[in-house]
Amino acid sequence: MITARLPQEEIDRAVEALREGEIVAFPTETVYGLGADARNPDAVRRVFELKGRPATHPLIVHIEHQRALERWALVVPPVALALAEKFWPGPLTLVLRRAPAVDLAVTGGQDTVAIRVPAHPVAQQLLKGFGSGIAAPSANRYGHVSPTRTEHVREEFGDAVRTILDGGDCRIGLESTIVSCVDAVPRLLRPGFITLTQLRAVVPEVEGTPATDSPRVPGSDVKHYAPSTRLSIVTSATLEEVVGQLTADGRRVAVLATRPPRTANKYMTWVNAGRRADAYARELYVGLRTLDKSGASEILVEEVPEGEAWDAVRDRLHRAASAENVVAVDPDIAALRAEFGDGIGQP
Ligand code: TXA
Ligand code: MG
Repeated sequence: MITARLPQEEIDRAVEALREGEIVAFPTETVYGLGADARNPDAVRRVFELKGRPATHPLIVHIEHQRALERWALVVPPVALALAEKFWPGPLTLVLRRAPAVDLAVTGGQDTVAIRVPAHPVAQQLLKGFGSGIAAPSANRYGHVSPTRTEHVREEFGDAVRTILDGGDCRIGLESTIVSCVDAVPRLLRPGFITLTQLRAVVPEVEGTPATDSPRVPGSDVKHYAPSTRLSIVTSATLEEVVGQLTADGRRVAVLATRPPRTANKYMTWVNAGRRADAYARELYVGLRTLDKSGASEILVEEVPEGEAWDAVRDRLHRAASAENVVAVDPDIAALRAEFGDGIGQP
């Protein structure tokens, strides 16, 4: 894994590109970002265009250091300051009231802005060189699987993104934990590597239930983080049985599981991402992309274990699946449907 710094000349060229309003893909410890000068509305609009993302869905502004916070946020409540001091640089995004100068193109027209200080040395080099905020969503097309390697960014955008800084495989592999500090009670909007327990150790009043009706969090839409192949979540107990049924007529099936298969099947591609949540998270998007390309007509994902350590992974998996992707043969799907509403992907 390359997490070393890049040669300064390469950073300088990327900084120059940003200054000219171009788009630069760069690594963070979570996933790769598609970066634009946050003060340049045309560059920001280009990010939305490239991603195919609705203009009302806001981007995260990446900054070099907590000290730059007041340039982007109107007020920094004590809870936000406490979280920033504990977790920055790192995989945490804070939603705050936006400073007047923050462009509405970045915030999707809202009065709030999402801000993060990434820890990845290359992201740090880029931010330091640029000296201002970089607005960046994950470097994937809207609704697709997020990128954790440069080759994923190329798969998503081809030649449309000319500058891609290579920081190797992302260490965490899942998007940042997002906490809104806009209202009196801070609220977890998106689970990530930093868990609710860790947040509460610093700010005990953080509310855990995301506002599921918020249209401003695209990750909350049904079908997000999704491969093109139909994806269904299946219990461990029924996994081999479902594989058997689906492959009976010679169709190929792809499986993402926390264990090896119990029976061999020549029509199946099996990725074992293991039973450690952090290692699984690192493998998740690589695994989904591999399985998506395997020629299978169906991706089956073994339901991950209970417990908070798996919250972020479970969240992404349930959003990657959706109603029409449910395999009827699994009786447990009915239970999942009851729990998650019409579609398994629904929060
Ligand atoms: O780890 C990450 O957060 C990565 C890296 C590149 O930093 N970025 C990322 O960006 O995941 P994106 O755009 O794919 O997801 C950002 C999320 C979206 O769900 C967006 O709606 C939410 O942040 N967001 C941004 N601004 C917001 C705001 N003002 N209020 C609520 N949610 C906001
Ligand atoms: Mg994204």
